[in-house]
This record gives sequence, C-alpha cells and structure tokens, in this order.
Amino acid sequence: MASPSLFLVGIGFLVVACGAIAVQRNVDETGMVMEEGELLGLFDVMGSLLEEPGWADVHPEPCTDTPWPGVECEIGQDPPIFHVTTIHIGPDVATPPCKPSAKISDSLLKLPYLRTLSIFNCFVTSQVTLSPTLFGSLSSLEHLSLQSNPSLSGEVPQSLAKISTLRVMSLSQNNLQGNIPLELGGLVNLEQLDLSYNNLSGEIPEDIGGLKSLTILDLSSNGLEGPVPHSLGQLQLLQKVDLCSNRLHGRIPPEFGQLNSFSACGLMGPIPNSLSSLKNLTALSLDNNSLTGTIPPSLGSLPNLDQLNLSHNKLSGELLLSEEFIKRLGKRLDVRGNSRLCTSYQLSRKNISTYLQTPACLGTEGIVDNRTCPEEQPDDFKGRKPYWYHGQTSSRAPLQDPQFISTCFVLLHALSFL
Ligand SMILES: *[C@@H]1O[C@H](CO)[C@@H](O)[C@H](O)[C@H]1NC(C)=O
Ligand SMILES: *[C@@H]1O[C@H](CO)[C@@H](O)[C@H](O)[C@H]1NC(C)=O
Ligand SMILES: *[C@@H]1O[C@H](CO)[C@@H](O)[C@H](O)[C@H]1NC(C)=O
Ligand SMILES: *[C@@H]1O[C@H](CO)[C@@H](O)[C@H](O)[C@H]1NC(C)=O
Ligand SMILES: *[C@@H]1O[C@H](CO)[C@@H](O)[C@H](O)[C@H]1NC(C)=O
Ligand SMILES: *[C@@H]1O[C@H](CO)[C@@H](O)[C@H](O)[C@H]1NC(C)=O
Repeated sequence: MASPSLFLVGIGFLVVACGAIAVQRNVDETGMVMEEGELLGLFDVMGSLLEEPGWADVHPEPCTDTPWPGVECEIGQDPPIFHVTTIHIGPDVATPPCKPSAKISDSLLKLPYLRTLSIFNCFVTSQVTLSPTLFGSLSSLEHLSLQSNPSLSGEVPQSLAKISTLRVMSLSQNNLQGNIPLELGGLVNLEQLDLSYNNLSGEIPEDIGGLKSLTILDLSSNGLEGPVPHSLGQLQLLQKVDLCSNRLHGRIPPEFGQLNSFSACGLMGPIPNSLSSLKNLTALSLDNNSLTGTIPPSLGSLPNLDQLNLSHNKLSGELLLSEEFIKRLGKRLDVRGNSRLCTSYQLSRKNISTYLQTPACLGTEGIVDNRTCPEEQPDDFKGRKPYWYHGQTSSRAPLQDPQFISTCFVLLHALSFL
C-alpha cells in the first residue's frame, strides 16, 4: 500500500525534476511520469466500474495532481516513474461506487504493478464473472478482495493459482459457484483464504494442505460437502479455520491436534485427545455439534484454556475434569445439553457451577458410574456406540442427521505476544 509519505516524496520528486509546474505534467525530463499504457489501462479499469462518465477527464493525473481516493501509486526504482499499486472500490470511497453495468476490464492486465485490488459492493445488478485470463499476468498482486458483490457469479477461476505472490484472497459474500479449484493449493504464499458466503459446492480439496503460509481459512456458509480434509492438520501456521454452515461431515481429524485454532461444524465422533497438545489454546467451543464419547480429561490440563463450551453434543460418561479446573473456569465451562454426561457424586454435591447441570454418576438409573465410563479412544469409536447409547429416552429432540448439523466449533489460541 502506498503511504501518504511516499506520495509526498513522489510529488517532491516531480517538483525537483521538473523545476516548475509544466503544462504537460505527464512528462518530465527523464521520460513519462507514468507509462502511457499503464495510465490508459487505469482509465479503462476505472471507467468500466464507475458511474462517473469521464473518469479520465476528471482524473488526468491519478497518481499526482488529481488523485482518486481509492487509487494509490508508488514510484518505481528504474526508471523512477509512478505505477498504480492499489485500486480500491467501495462505498467508503464513493457512493454509489459503481455503475449498474460495472465490470472488470481486461485492461487490468495493463497494470502489472498492482498489488492490491479490492472491489466491494460494486457488482449488484449486472452479471459479472471472473474471466480465467484476467489475472494471468498480474504477477505482483498480493491482495485480492472482491467482496459483497451479489451479482459476481460463475466459478473461482483456476488461473488465480498462477498469482504466486498472493497473500490474501477474499472472495466472500459473492455468488460464486462450482468447486474450489484444487490448483489453489499451490499458492504457497497465501496467508488468508476467505471464500465464505458463496454458493460453492463439492468437496474441500485435500490439496488445500499445500497452502503452507495459511493462517486464516474461512469457507463457511457455502454448499460444501464431504469430509474435512486431513491435510489441513499439516498447516503449521493456521490459527483460525471456519467451515461452518456447510454440509460437511465426519469427525475431527486427529491431525488437528497440530492446529492453533479451528472452527467448523457438523462434526461428529469423539473429541480427539490430540487437542490437548494445543498448549496455547485459550478458548475451545465445540458446542452444538454431534460429538460423542467422553470429554478427554487432558483438556483440563491445558494451562491457558479459559473457556470451554461443549454444550449440546452427545458426550457421555463421567466428567473427569479436575475440580480445580472446573472452579477456575466457573461459568466459562459449559457442558449443558449432553444428556448422557455425569459428574462424580462428590462433585455434583458441591454445586460448583450451574452450567455443570449434569447428574451424579452413581445411583441414577441408566447412567454409568465412574468405573464403567469407557476410556477415551478416538479412533476406536468408528461405528461403535457405547453400550448405553441405545434405549435411553431423552427429552431432547431426536438426533439430527449428522450431515446436516449446521453449527460450529471454534478454537482460539493465545497469541504469543500476550
Ligand atoms: C447454487 O448453485 C446451485 C448449482 O450448483 C444452483 O442450483 C442454486 O440455484 C444456486 N443457489 C443460489 C442461491 O444461487
Ligand atoms: C455455549 O454455547 C451455547 C450455544 O451452543 C450458548 O448458548 C452458550 O451460551 C455457550 N456457553 C457459554 C458459557 O458461552
Ligand atoms: C446449589 O445451588 C442452588 C442454587 O444455585 C441452591 O439452591 C442450593 O442450595 C445449592 N446446594 C448446595 C448443596 O450448596
Ligand atoms: C469412583 O467413585 C468412588 C466414589 O464415588 C471413588 O471412591 C472412586 O475412587 C472413584 N473411582 C475412580 C476411578 O475415580
Ligand atoms: C444448534 O444448531 C441448530 C441447527 O443445527 C440450530 O437450529 C440451533 O439454534 C442451535 N442452537 C444453539 C444454541 O446455537
Ligand atoms: C505457544 O506460544 C509460545 C510463545 O508464548 C510459542 O513459542 C510456542 O511456539 C507456541 N506453541 C504452539 C504449539 O503454538
């Protein structure tokens, strides 16, 4: 992003180089202030987006005298001329920002120094698709945000995977369809991928595990199906994963024990013991999923864990979290809505937290005591139900088909600087 100081430096350069305000400011003694092709390319791009009819007339020198709030330029090294580095279009820059027939011009290809392209709330009426050839040679692009464009439809082009410099790709709240191209997994510099709130379908490709720099992955609110890819567990820098509101199914992959943060939904099966290796975990929300099995007691030994919500699952057996842990969390520990969960008789008498509304394990019909609670065995639960799974009536609604459960679990981690 061009800083205002760079901008001033640029203006200073011009004054020094030209000595006086020339009539033709596009040219200085060493050549053009801007390459003509790039300038014309910018005019095309802006003109095809904005309502303002004579963009080129109103902004003849967009990098210097007649700036546009959403356009930023920087001076290149050799030759020292201006290049367009940022185009941002959105309601914060102009209202209404775009014309009804707004589209992305192919002239984008004439802006090879562009590092940031962000277009918000622009394509509202005219149907716009992302042309596969549009981004091919934008070799400098680092930040691509096309958000809240209801008439931006079609597929996410595979060709986006060729922009190896990309660090942020946010295509959320559009109307994109089709699969997530597996080629995107080749974007090794990508730090944030947000495809949330579209109409994407198919499975999340395993190739997504190739995004080695990824810290944030948000694929929530689409029509994605199938399992959560195990390869996500290999991404060492991942801090937040949100897969909520899809039709994903499956269990929490044990590899997620490597993650700092995770947020997804529709998951069933046991809570993997490996979560307890996340020593920096501060908050773990697995509420309103379809998790089964016991609560791993090791969660209670996570030194930084300060919030644990396991409510509304199908967890069972005795709650074996330490009394000290339970007291420390107080109401930030929520295990309500697990009808087969129980606490030891001693603990239940102590009335520690109203969010521990679980019966005592002993002496209650149909509820197991502490000695018969099964050990946590994450991968042995496949298809096998604890013996008390059947034949117990519950006041809760019938269990949903696990494929269509639409809520979330969220893991946050303590930032290292905290
Ligand atoms: C989402 O995409 C499917 C095809 O994959 C289509 O049938 C459906 O109408 C789309 N939904 C919306 C809201 O556009
Ligand atoms: C736990 O999650 C449920 C939603 O599933 C929510 O109603 C409840 O307030 C949460 N508990 C805490 C302590 O945040
Ligand atoms: C437990 O808490 C309830 C209200 O929260 C109270 O009425 C009851 O007396 C408490 N029981 C004990 C044993 O402290
Ligand atoms: C089970 O509970 C009884 C009393 O409630 C206690 O004496 C015993 O130590 C507990 N066993 C285990 C394995 O926690
Ligand atoms: C739990 O998820 C269901 C949908 O699966 C939703 O209707 C309900 O509101 C959620 N409950 C809470 C407390 O979030
Ligand atoms: C936890 O945080 C510390 C810094 O506080 C950091 O050095 C360490 O790598 C983190 N551990 C994990 C598993 O993220």
